[in-house]
Amino acid sequence: MKRGEQPAWFPLDDAEVMGDPFEMFSAWYDQATEIVREPEAICVATADASGQPAARMVLLRNFDERGFVFHTNYESRKGHDIEENPKGAILWFIEEMGRQVRIEGSIEKISAQESDAYFARRNRGHQIGAHASAQSQPIESRKALEARFLDTEAAFEGRGVPRPQYWGGYQLVPSHFEFWQQRPDRYHDRYFYERDGTSWRVQRHQP
Ligand SMILES: Cc1cc2nc3c(=O)[nH]c(=O)nc-3n(C[C@H](O)[C@H](O)[C@H](O)COP(=O)(O)O)c2cc1C
Repeated sequence: MKRGEQPAWFPLDDAEVMGDPFEMFSAWYDQATEIVREPEAICVATADASGQPAARMVLLRNFDERGFVFHTNYESRKGHDIEENPKGAILWFIEEMGRQVRIEGSIEKISAQESDAYFARRNRGHQIGAHASAQSQPIESRKALEARFLDTEAAFEGRGVPRPQYWGGYQLVPSHFEFWQQRPDRYHDRYFYERDGTSWRVQRHQP
């Protein structure tokens, strides 16, 4: 697809809509992997105790029937928001396919063992960066930021870099999903999933 071209239409028949939204997301994600460079880019929205929302992009590192996992600094703005108010939302948008998925639910930390395993797989520069950056805190200059990186690098010279306690994974456990498929004339398809005990209730919504 060239820049400015209309996305191909992927009509969504009721019969194709799966009862399990995780399977549905997985199918869409696999298709996106064939087309776009970074299908793992998601927007995560949180809100603090006062209700003030904030949104930012992160990378989706894993998903399964337990939830959607991203990794970050637990002391960042999003970390503080989640501490105060564990509700959050994910937005995933693939322009080339005319698709959007909205996911809402509660956010919790993954286990320390899972975070350790993921951190151990990151490259050394990323590991050093996680130690060197107090994410979301002010700093006076780029020079000061680079000095922190070099100091941290020197401090770990000749040894492995352990995961900082304040860095790890969060998992959004969904209560709702919405799958949106662009269609001509703004007459889009929308499927809304709501958790109902151990299963999911699915409804088509108007565009
Ligand atoms: C495409 C993209 C992917 C990103 N991935 C991550 C990520 O996986 N983890 C992370 O902490 N920040 C990631 N960031 C940076 C965040 O958007 C954000 O600047 C940072 O997490 C601080 O957000 P906060 O102050 O709201 O906590 C990414 C940014 C972009 C544009």
